[in-house]
Amino acid sequence: MKLSATTAQNSFKYSWLLSRIWPYIKPYWFRILLGFLVAIPLGLLDGVTAFALKPYMDYVVGGKALEFELLGHSFCISSVKMAFILPIGVVLFAAFQGVLRYLNGYLSTWTSQRITNDVKFDLFERLINMHPQFFDENSSGIIISRYMNDPQTASAGIVDQIKTITTSIFGALGLIAVMLYSSWKLAIIGVFVLFIAFLPVALIRKRIKNASNKNMVIGGNITTNINETYAGNKVMAAYELQERQNKYFREQTWSAFNVNMSLYKRSGWMSPIMYIIASLGIATVLGFGTYLINTGEMTAGSFASFVTSLLLLYKPVKTLGNTLTTIQNLFVALGRVFELFDLKAEINDSVNPINLEGVNSCIEFKNVGFEYAPEQPVLKNLNIRIAKNEALAIVGNSGGGKSTLVNLIPRFYDVKTGSITIDGVDIREFSLKSLRQNISMVFQDNFLFSGTIEENIRMGKPNATDEELQKAIEAAHLEDVISELPDGINTMLGERGLTLSGGQRQRVAIARAMLRNAPIVILDEATSALDNQSEAIVQKAMDNLMKDRTVFIIAHRLSTIKNADRIAVINEGELVELGTHDELMNIENGHYKSLYEMQFKKQEVTV
Ligand SMILES: Nc1ncnc2c1ncn2[C@@H]1O[C@H](COP(=O)(O)OP(=O)(O)OP(=O)(O)O)[C@@H](O)[C@H]1O
Ligand SMILES: [Mg+2]
Repeated sequence: MKLSATTAQNSFKYSWLLSRIWPYIKPYWFRILLGFLVAIPLGLLDGVTAFALKPYMDYVVGGKALEFELLGHSFCISSVKMAFILPIGVVLFAAFQGVLRYLNGYLSTWTSQRITNDVKFDLFERLINMHPQFFDENSSGIIISRYMNDPQTASAGIVDQIKTITTSIFGALGLIAVMLYSSWKLAIIGVFVLFIAFLPVALIRKRIKNASNKNMVIGGNITTNINETYAGNKVMAAYELQERQNKYFREQTWSAFNVNMSLYKRSGWMSPIMYIIASLGIATVLGFGTYLINTGEMTAGSFASFVTSLLLLYKPVKTLGNTLTTIQNLFVALGRVFELFDLKAEINDSVNPINLEGVNSCIEFKNVGFEYAPEQPVLKNLNIRIAKNEALAIVGNSGGGKSTLVNLIPRFYDVKTGSITIDGVDIREFSLKSLRQNISMVFQDNFLFSGTIEENIRMGKPNATDEELQKAIEAAHLEDVISELPDGINTMLGERGLTLSGGQRQRVAIARAMLRNAPIVILDEATSALDNQSEAIVQKAMDNLMKDRTVFIIAHRLSTIKNADRIAVINEGELVELGTHDELMNIENGHYKSLYEMQFKKQEVTV
């Protein structure tokens, strides 16, 4: 499944998406509700300031005293007193609003981050269990876009938008109430016009979706470009690829620019149109308001309150308008997130997996066929039987399928036809975990994680004793390497620390495999040539690893081949010869013989 070819099909199925995100929101519903409750007065308070203008105009500016009855007493507030009370009241309200705003912001940030975390935790768990082909097909940048950025946009957005929408809606309601109180006739005109103003938002959701999908892919491409610039920095320097990288970066950045500009060109007219319609509304209201004052139907204070409310109303309404765009973006991201949740890892445990406990008699490849891409067979009808504790060397042309063959054993890929069995049981019957625990693997290019050497070796068996660790280090002939490092076994490797040479890395990988102490060993020998002394050391390390185990070793060196019990020659995906060195040398015009003449013979002279 190629993640860059996404369509976010479900992004307009709002209720479906909400039902999927609901389980993530549910644990925090109380705090969200609390934030929601706080948002109501927060929104309503906007109206208070506008409301205060009426008494201010009518009593303070008009010089009237306010008289009213409360609980049987009559009160009289002079206009001078009013002139003090009202401004202080406004400030107090603002302070109250400030406290609520902080509370609301705190609650919504907390809940949105928690929901985002939960979504990311679940997504990452799926990511780490995806099958290798998934990683072959999708670039690192796209994976970061999809697994990290989308959930951030989507789940953090939801709570933020709930907050914005409630504050805006109640803000608008409060202001509308003040307007109705001031003059219901004017209010109807004002509200009607304002709401017409943002109807067109619904028209552009498809454009928003397309732009969002394109931006996701471009963002991913840019991240991949940066990752490759980082990982390939030496190749880049050696072949002067800076310009190539630069060009690609610029192209992608420009296409992001173009996507956003074209979205703006097609949707940007909305905002000015909204302004124009709104200003028409305001103009009508002003004219009609003057008429109402002149006819004595409305006081100047009510009119001031009204106009202020109308102007203040513009903000929440505009926010709601923008929110609709943001929400559409958010639903598109949410649509992409739940697409990921529905991806199934293709390599899985069977229904009732068996626990694999070592090899008793043999491992067998029966009519095994495999292809990465349809119609391009990489392995063709392969049959081999390896007895327990036998060491099988695999040789053959480059690209012939040797690494592929051994990758089928731990089920990085599943056979397309035929089967692989251990003691007669199809490996697909075993639990993935137990199958892989029975295999020690040393890869062609060994990857070390950032961390200390010790951590890297202990990955083979996290609960190993210090004694076991020491034995593995000795068997991998690593003591000399380690003793020369600044912090010995605690030296940091990788991103934050130093890097080891190819041969040293291979021995760390061998130590890791030694520590695992699994009955099946798979070694994909590095193709790079080592000098005689290092070769002898690595050879000894490998011998130690292979002792009393069932071994598949992809060999590029004569010394390794000669150590094996039998040799399988793989040519263009087919098993063409199988036997001991002497047997294969006796085949006239045989593949092995010619490989020997071309590659291995000269090694014999030097070893
Ligand atoms: N992850 C992959 N996705 C698609 N095709 C692949 C993948 N890995 C290998 N191939 C293709 O499968 C074929 C066999 O590759 P494989 O790595 O098994 O060869 P090999 O015998 O190990 O070669 P070498 O000796 O150079 O390591 C090659 O044509 C290669 O291009
Ligand atoms: Mg290979």
